[in-house]
Amino acid sequence: MINVLAIICAYLIGSIPSGLWIGKIFYKTDIREHGSGNLGATNTFRVLGKKAGIVVTVMDILKGTIATLLPTFSYFSDTGVHPLILGAIAAFGHMFPIFAGFRGGKAVATSGGVLLGYSWPFFVFLVIGFLILLKITKIVSLSSMLISLIAVVYSIIYWIVTGDYALFIMVVILASFIIYRHRSNIKRIKEGTEPKVKWL
Ligand code: G3P
Repeated sequence: MINVLAIICAYLIGSIPSGLWIGKIFYKTDIREHGSGNLGATNTFRVLGKKAGIVVTVMDILKGTIATLLPTFSYFSDTGVHPLILGAIAAFGHMFPIFAGFRGGKAVATSGGVLLGYSWPFFVFLVIGFLILLKITKIVSLSSMLISLIAVVYSIIYWIVTGDYALFIMVVILASFIIYRHRSNIKRIKEGTEPKVKWL
């Protein structure tokens, strides 16, 4: 029973549509009707500005982190569900949120949060890598997809060094979801119409 509750809890945490709620409550704006239409941190930056973008980025990251850390809470301490599975369920909740008609985001920040909860040096490495890629490409979606692939390579090295292959399996699953959710971005990148960030 506690396993089922942990899974439901992880999904509900991931389902919190930060960008939608921050936009509606403080800006009277549904970010899904503007910009890329994506319910994510990038589109929040684009549509509502830096302040809201930072808040939503932090909230979306924390959703993945909290779900991954659920087994460390005393109530869930007996759950046999692997922390990475709970994190991945939160990422799934972000993509298909029950609180936003199952129209969610691409789970880049939430997946990052999963890694923060599981191995913070991995998270720090990926954030630095993402910022370098963003500085070079100026395209958030392209940087997100490239860093997802780099994460797979890192997780293979992590597996070799630590013997922990769970991270590799989960990173492959999350990276596949992330790249699949970027289909429209890939089309725009090919057409040369994907927006570039101006402030970096
Ligand atoms: O995190 C999502 C980002 O990679 C792309 O977002 O709004 O440009 O589709 P967006």
